[in-house]
Amino acid sequence: MTLSPESLDILEQRVEDLTEDARNHAGDEPKKAAALFSKAADVHERLAEAKDSPVVVQAHENKAESLRSNAQSQLRDAGLNPSNSMRDESRPETDVQSEVESTFDEVETDDTQAAIEAAEFFENPPSTELEDVGGLDAEIGRIHDGIIKPHLYPEVFNAIGVDMSNGVLLYGPPGTGKSLIARAAANELGYPYAGVSAAELGSEYVNKGAQNVQRLFAEAKQIQPCVVFVDELDSLARSRSGGPEQTDGTRQMITQLLQELDAIQGSEICVIGATNLVEDIDGAIRRSGRFDRKIHIGAPDADDRRDIFQIHLEDKRVSGDLDWNEIIEWTEGFSGADIASVVRQAGQAAASESIDEGVVSPSDVPGITHEHLMEQIKEKEPGVKEWEEEQNHSLS
Ligand SMILES: Nc1ncnc2c1ncn2[C@@H]1O[C@H](COP(=O)(O)OP(=O)(O)OP(=O)(O)O)[C@@H](O)[C@H]1O
Ligand SMILES: [Mg+2]
Repeated sequence: MTLSPESLDILEQRVEDLTEDARNHAGDEPKKAAALFSKAADVHERLAEAKDSPVVVQAHENKAESLRSNAQSQLRDAGLNPSNSMRDESRPETDVQSEVESTFDEVETDDTQAAIEAAEFFENPPSTELEDVGGLDAEIGRIHDGIIKPHLYPEVFNAIGVDMSNGVLLYGPPGTGKSLIARAAANELGYPYAGVSAAELGSEYVNKGAQNVQRLFAEAKQIQPCVVFVDELDSLARSRSGGPEQTDGTRQMITQLLQELDAIQGSEICVIGATNLVEDIDGAIRRSGRFDRKIHIGAPDADDRRDIFQIHLEDKRVSGDLDWNEIIEWTEGFSGADIASVVRQAGQAAASESIDEGVVSPSDVPGITHEHLMEQIKEKEPGVKEWEEEQNHSLS
């Protein structure tokens, strides 16, 4: 698994802190020290998985092994020698591990895996990485502050005496990467992920919305630590333009959602909400303070657009040079989704052209050219601009 440089820094710092903490407790509080040594070993293993250089990987693996043996010797000091009996000797690691884990009251990984497999809403951590998100550096920084750090370092928040927030709200025009970021945050944390749309939860079965919300959070409590992404939160609000009033079903669903958001404070359930406009979210949800961090995900600027093009072109065949100045100039107001679609359609046009010209041997097929891209760009209505115009229209 690839981790962003920020997360690697956090993990490196965390492993140092855990190890130091473990050494401080060694001897006096062997059980606690063992748990801390074992946690530090876990983090070294995670770092080993994330690193490319064989030497560095080996170094992390060695450290993990030596910390595990420290953990075992602490447990032995605590009178929890797992190799006292024949049965234990055959599986000393597992017993040591379970003793350590019970100290920390941790959920067994196997149980979580079984729970995810049986889950209605949850899936394994997504494969989308923060590196797959083009631009948005400042916004991703805020995701680090609002979600990633609190979940990797809850003890720091506790030490200072502030709650870690469980909820962030992403808002902005369609297609700018809100769903993408939610998946990437779950990937970064390595947490199971549930992505639901409030509109679908509410409409799938009329008046079953509240029950759906309840089932979703019951599953989250079982599977935590986890990420719950609730898209289209605006669908729960009263229509701005004098459309249909909220139904009883919608009101019940909002009440349920507020109760669940209250109940998970301090848990390891991280909720990410999304909407196009903050003002369109039902006032009760907005005021509840449960989404205390609101992060605007806007239209990409010039540098961000280039970054997004490069991400989407990365696995494509490209022929000749691209005139970036022209591409950037013509894509003002394009969302990330527009750019993804331009690249896809340019690729399809290139393939179709190649077939028309009788070039069908995969090694001879030419790639996407600058002209292919520009043709699609010129045909496309920039999504963000169009959306902004619609907003102005519906407000006026
Ligand atoms: N910043 C970005 N970097 C790379 N790709 C992007 C970016 N933003 C959007 N995309 C592309 O557009 C697709 C749609 O984006 P996404 O679903 O995240 O948008 P959204 O903000 O959730 O939109 P909506 O408000 O309509 O739900 C992504 O799967 C991705 O291919
Ligand atoms: Mg979305």
